[in-house]
Amino acid sequence: MVLRNVLMNLSENEMLNAAAQKYGLKLGAESVVAGTNLEEMIESVKKLNAQGIEATIDNLGEFVYDEAIATKAKDEILEVIDAIQTHGLNAHISVKPSQVGLDIDIDFCYDNLREIVEHAAQYGMFVNLDMENYARLQSTLDMLQELNKVFDNVGTVMQAYLFRAKEDIERLKDYRLRIVKGAYKESAEVAYQDKLEIDINFLELVEYHLLHGKFTSIATHDHNLIAHVKQFVADHDIPNDKFEFQMLYGFRTDMQKELTKDYNFCTYVPFGKDWYGYFMRRLAERPQNINLVTKQVFNKKTNTILAVAAGAFILGRLTKRK
Ligand code: FDA
Repeated sequence: MVLRNVLMNLSENEMLNAAAQKYGLKLGAESVVAGTNLEEMIESVKKLNAQGIEATIDNLGEFVYDEAIATKAKDEILEVIDAIQTHGLNAHISVKPSQVGLDIDIDFCYDNLREIVEHAAQYGMFVNLDMENYARLQSTLDMLQELNKVFDNVGTVMQAYLFRAKEDIERLKDYRLRIVKGAYKESAEVAYQDKLEIDINFLELVEYHLLHGKFTSIATHDHNLIAHVKQFVADHDIPNDKFEFQMLYGFRTDMQKELTKDYNFCTYVPFGKDWYGYFMRRLAERPQNINLVTKQVFNKKTNTILAVAAGAFILGRLTKRK
């Protein structure tokens, strides 16, 4: 828990995020981030496609408070959409609203999202609005519903740790939705803190959307939840074209291939220079991931101790500096 909190705090640190952008993929991030540029990402997606796996591509970026940077991010996403089309990739787009201006101005963000969704629509391509922290949830849903008045190629994410997710999913059942546990640090006022409660809610949301909703993306690496869903779809004759499993790039790759044999499967493919926040959240939600991604840096046995020490040290320095 201490390690999780340290890593979560580090994931939100803007100074470290800015420093990470200056360097290439470090700390083993290259095993879970599909390159820092378009060409590297395209090669990674081609390899996934060759295995029968679709990709949802995230041109990484967050902590954007500057209009010029948000506009550049939007333009890069338009390029990704064109690249998917030009290279005939089996892929679509995932976007974090804060990357294209949610923290600057909601109308500005909406205009950027609208341009992205409209551009993707001409190729019949889906756009997922990734769900960020609770403070950004309502505005994300408001923009989604506004976009949906004009476009039907847009959907979003339901986070099972949130108390309100059940109500939201009933309201949004006509959307294509990705169901996840939730990756941010939320207070006990709005979110379950207990793993079992989150797991139960996750399954209830998945079951509801499979039975009543549009298309469901079941996004988890948790084999117990996956086994439950496999049984549920069999028991209820849910056809394969109503759902897919999703996992993150570089995680449980054997299981990804295994699931692809019987089900639609989509890998979330993050790429770009802005890898730091994404990478730290992956370490925070499962500190064992440190073993997976830092083999090159640390001796395996001392990983956790060193990571805690490094995190505490950096945090201490930052707190002193304010
Ligand atoms: P969790 O980390 O809870 O692990 C459960 C169990 O599964 C572990 O105890 C272990 O047994 C097994 N396990 C998990 N990972 C393993 C591994 N690598 N190797 C071996 N065993 C492993 N969040 C969000 O807030 N907004 C979003 O938009 C998204 N989008 C998103 C897309 C996709 C495709 C995925 C997979 C996830 C997200 N998330 C997200 C993140 C999500 O909310 C959540 O934080 C992570 O998926 C971690 O939860 P899991 O359910 O994967 O397993």
